[in-house]
Amino acid sequence: MSVLSGKNILLGITGGIAAYKTTYLVRHFIKAGAHVKIIMTPASKDFVTPLTLSTLSKNPVLSSFTNEDDENDMWNNHVDLGLWADIFVIAPATANTLSKMASGNSDNFLLATYLSAKCPVYFAPAMDLDMYKHTSTKASFSTLKSFGNIMIPAGSGELASGLIGEGRMAEPEEILAFIEKDIASKLPLRNKKILITAGPTYEAIDPVRFIGNHSSGKMGYELAKAAANLGAEVILVSGPTKEVLSNSLVTIIPVVSAEDMYTASHNYFASVDVAICAAAVADYKPKNVAEQKIKKKTETFTITLEKTKDILASLGEIKKQQLLVGFALETNNELENAKGKLKRKNLDFIVLNSLQDKGAGFGKTTNKITIIDADESLISFALKSKKEVATDILTHLLDKL
Ligand code: CTP
Repeated sequence: MSVLSGKNILLGITGGIAAYKTTYLVRHFIKAGAHVKIIMTPASKDFVTPLTLSTLSKNPVLSSFTNEDDENDMWNNHVDLGLWADIFVIAPATANTLSKMASGNSDNFLLATYLSAKCPVYFAPAMDLDMYKHTSTKASFSTLKSFGNIMIPAGSGELASGLIGEGRMAEPEEILAFIEKDIASKLPLRNKKILITAGPTYEAIDPVRFIGNHSSGKMGYELAKAAANLGAEVILVSGPTKEVLSNSLVTIIPVVSAEDMYTASHNYFASVDVAICAAAVADYKPKNVAEQKIKKKTETFTITLEKTKDILASLGEIKKQQLLVGFALETNNELENAKGKLKRKNLDFIVLNSLQDKGAGFGKTTNKITIIDADESLISFALKSKKEVATDILTHLLDKL
């Protein structure tokens, strides 16, 4: 999955012949899973039509503060657009626009939005070779870089003038790769490896029956997604679940029983920086598993259970550099029980959810958590979606790392 998936990309197109290539750039962004909105300068419309770009981006294309074709139309709000964007990409960026950006000029909608944008700004220059080399253009580049804007250097090749040299806008796929690489290199969990356990475990009674629980696996899967989005390599040891996840940074190790989950977790633990045990592991399993299907004979039937291995506690015993995080699902004496688990299992912090809180627990899309640190300090969070809860947990984790 691309780091651009789910991101809001604002694309600013200025008046250079390379503008026609932005049709491909928009396709690349959309294919990467991004949401795209486009601003065109009036001059850029000579090179590519707004209709093509609005069709490809699935959004209206804006180019002025008002839409002259529609007398009822509202003022186009450059501030809102600037805030909407996760990244602003100006491609092609002409010498004229770059010099205006560098000097704070805001005489068109694109420039006003540039001045309002708080997000990272990328610019891909496109111009003739002598313009590209000109001292004034170079001064624009360095001023913009000093603002924190990121330049996607132009390539060399045949230019619209017929001359050959530097100044050709980077190809759309190069722009995509450049931005993806740049974002990935800045992710806070890059170079970190995280083990996450998720879902229930099934403990066999006979070949067709098992003891299980209602865990959906959602919390663990949301954690895995959020960690990968922050750049981590994730090993997701997952019990049986309907959840699906496809992300090149996440390796799913499917397991069924607590014993399988124990073995898989120990196989990876030594190589990870963090382990988060979010699975609802069975505490007991049938002592003997019948080889054949058990027949219905007696009025009552007793299964003798024995304890499973506590995966989290076993990791707590051997942990070295790893940061270890557990969950506690409680119905009563919540804080006391969770603090007990935190100490007993040698954790760095524990995430408590109480079944007394409406909206928290198994199978729900929401959760309400309290994080308890090793020094027993508490942070309580409001009821949120499990996706947001995952972000809160990882934000806390980043503080600890
Ligand atoms: N856990 C585990 N292996 C087990 C049991 C629990 O790794 N065999 C982990 C869970 O993934 C969770 C934490 O331990 O992170 C606490 O699980 P929980 O079921 O709340 O606690 P238990 O230790 O099983 O205690 P109890 O069921 O008595 O509350």
